[in-house]
Amino acid sequence: MTGGGGFIGSHLVERLLSDGHAVTVLDNFSTGRNENLEAVHSDGRLTVVRADISGIDEIQSHFQDVEWTFHLAGLADIVPSIQRPLDYHRANVDGTVAVLEAARKAGVKRFVYAASSSCYGIPDLYPTPETAPIRPQYPYALSKHLGEQCVLHWGRVYRLPVVSLRLFNVYGPRSRTSGAYGAVFGVFLAILHSSKTSSMLLSKLRTPMSPRRYSMWGPDKHTA
Ligand SMILES: NC(=O)c1ccc[n+]([C@@H]2O[C@H](COP(=O)([O-])OP(=O)(O)OC[C@H]3O[C@@H](n4cnc5c(N)ncnc54)[C@H](O)[C@@H]3O)[C@@H](O)[C@H]2O)c1
Repeated sequence: MTGGGGFIGSHLVERLLSDGHAVTVLDNFSTGRNENLEAVHSDGRLTVVRADISGIDEIQSHFQDVEWTFHLAGLADIVPSIQRPLDYHRANVDGTVAVLEAARKAGVKRFVYAASSSCYGIPDLYPTPETAPIRPQYPYALSKHLGEQCVLHWGRVYRLPVVSLRLFNVYGPRSRTSGAYGAVFGVFLAILHSSKTSSMLLSKLRTPMSPRRYSMWGPDKHTA
C-alpha cells in the first residue's frame, strides 16, 4: 500500500492486517505520521518502507510477491496545490505512473487507486452521479484526475486489473484538522471535540460563506 502512513491508508492497513494479510507500506511521510500506525507497528506482517513513490528504482523491489496494490499516496491538500502545482504533478501524476509500472512489472492481480470527487468541480447534481461532467478547478483536482486517467490507461493498454474510486470527503479519526489546509470534515470534527463545542460550531455555521446550501450525508440518511 502506498500512503499507508496517512489518514485513510492507516485505517486500511489495520483492516488488511486484521483480515490476515501481510502488508507493505510505501510512504515518504511528507504528510503521513508514524503515530497513525501505532496500533499495528509491532505486527510482524507489517513492513513499513520510507520511500518516495516517484522514484521507480526506489520502489520496484518492494513489489515482489505483491498480489494487490492500494495506491493512496499523494499530496492531498487543496490550497498548497495552487501554490505548488509542480509538486502535486510530481507526486500525484508521475508518482502514480511509477507505482503503475512497478505493479505491472510485478504482475499484481489488482490495482486500487484513490481518485477524488474533486474531478467534478462544483457539480450540478447532488448526489453526484459518476457520469457528471469532469471539471477540475485547481491543481490538486487536476492531478488526481490525470492520475486516474493513467490508471485507466494502464488498465486498457497493459490489461492491469485496475479500479479507481472517486472518494468524496472522507472523515474520521486521524484526518488532518489544520486550519485552511485541513479537510472540511476534519475541521468540523476538531471544532466539535473542542471544549467550546457548541458555541464555536454555531458561530462557524453562522459565518456567511455563500448563498449555497450545504448538505452532509451519512451512510443511510441525511445527517445535516
Ligand atoms: N481524505 C479525503 O477526503 C480524500 C478524498 C478524495 C481522495 N483522497 C485521496 O486519498 C488518498 C489518501 O488521502 P488522505 O486523506 O489519507 O491523505 P494523507 O495526506 O493523510 O495521506 C497521503 C499519504 O501519502 C504520502 N505521500 C505523499 N506524497 C508521497 C510520495 N511522493 N511518496 C510516498 N508517499 C507519499 C503521505 O506521507 C501520506 O502518508 C490521497 O491520494 C487523496 O488524494 C482523499
